[in-house]
Amino acid sequence: MSLALTEDPETVFKSNHMNHFLEDVLTGLRSNPKHLSSKYFYDKTGDGLFQKIMAMPEYYLTRCELDIFRNKTGDLANLINAYGSAFDLIELGAGDAMKSAFLLRHLNEKGADFTYMPIDISGNILSVLKENLNKELPQLDIIPLEGEYFEMLEKASAMSSKRKVILFLGGNIGNMSRQEAEDFCKQLYHLSDPQDILLIGFDLKKNPHTVLNAYNDPGGVTAAFNLNLLSRINRELKGNFNPDYFQHYATYDPVTGACRSFLISLVNQEVLISGERIIFEENEILDMEVSQKFSIDEIHHLAEHTGFKVTGEITDSKNWFVDSIWKKGHLKTDVYGK
Ligand code: AVI
Repeated sequence: MSLALTEDPETVFKSNHMNHFLEDVLTGLRSNPKHLSSKYFYDKTGDGLFQKIMAMPEYYLTRCELDIFRNKTGDLANLINAYGSAFDLIELGAGDAMKSAFLLRHLNEKGADFTYMPIDISGNILSVLKENLNKELPQLDIIPLEGEYFEMLEKASAMSSKRKVILFLGGNIGNMSRQEAEDFCKQLYHLSDPQDILLIGFDLKKNPHTVLNAYNDPGGVTAAFNLNLLSRINRELKGNFNPDYFQHYATYDPVTGACRSFLISLVNQEVLISGERIIFEENEILDMEVSQKFSIDEIHHLAEHTGFKVTGEITDSKNWFVDSIWKKGHLKTDVYGK
């Protein structure tokens, strides 16, 4: 009998996850320039640091999208055609659902016919979310889905034939490279039907000082958020990084809209990760994260290029952030080649 058959699924899931983590880290650190993926920022310490970031005066993104969900809830409900027919409201990376809770309350009050399906990789945050929402909105139908976005989206589609309204909030799409964002949208295209609606949050280009300050706070929380990934590698992958030998550096290019975070090696150093040796030279950079900012035209281009059409958009009162509403359009043969 094979080992995998005797192991419980959670153990297998965790060990696969660890193998991917180690593989990604070593591949990134053997590249030139060296890079790590910001998707690994979010362990328990990273989650706590991100909560702190969202509360910082410089970090405007969360407040802007909250402004939309709090003050333009009726418009949001109309744009997602909430009263048209029954639907599943699926939220990718729901977390604590702080913003979407405004929409849920509104839809509930207005008697919309829907089931809320929050998807998150963290089972822990999903149980907290369910407990809180059950208390506040006992009649709300909630089906939490723990796992990867697309796997869970497929599961949701298999479970229900209702039309889908998919939320992807927080400007998370900005943490993908252009290619990754396109691939992500194309995958959403293939997993959605013509009657489905997609709502994606994008951080907009604005005064470059405002953007850079959000990622370069004087209290060093963003620096700690980046450095925590080195400590996570130490904890989970038997690494021996000394975070004191790295310095956080943030840049913003207002032309491309790319806000990037790097760690700079302050000395010549050698690091061991699960027995593998990685050499850093003094002043060598480690590329940690991109937080892409968009113009409205760039958002329209991304939608059209990946098979969608923009059917609505709602900005916050400062016009710093937009929730863009998409529906399936026509596949462009030049994009897909068939
Ligand atoms: C989660 N994501 C949208 C955040 C952002 O703004 O790119 C992550 C973050 N990185 C540094 N500060 C916040």
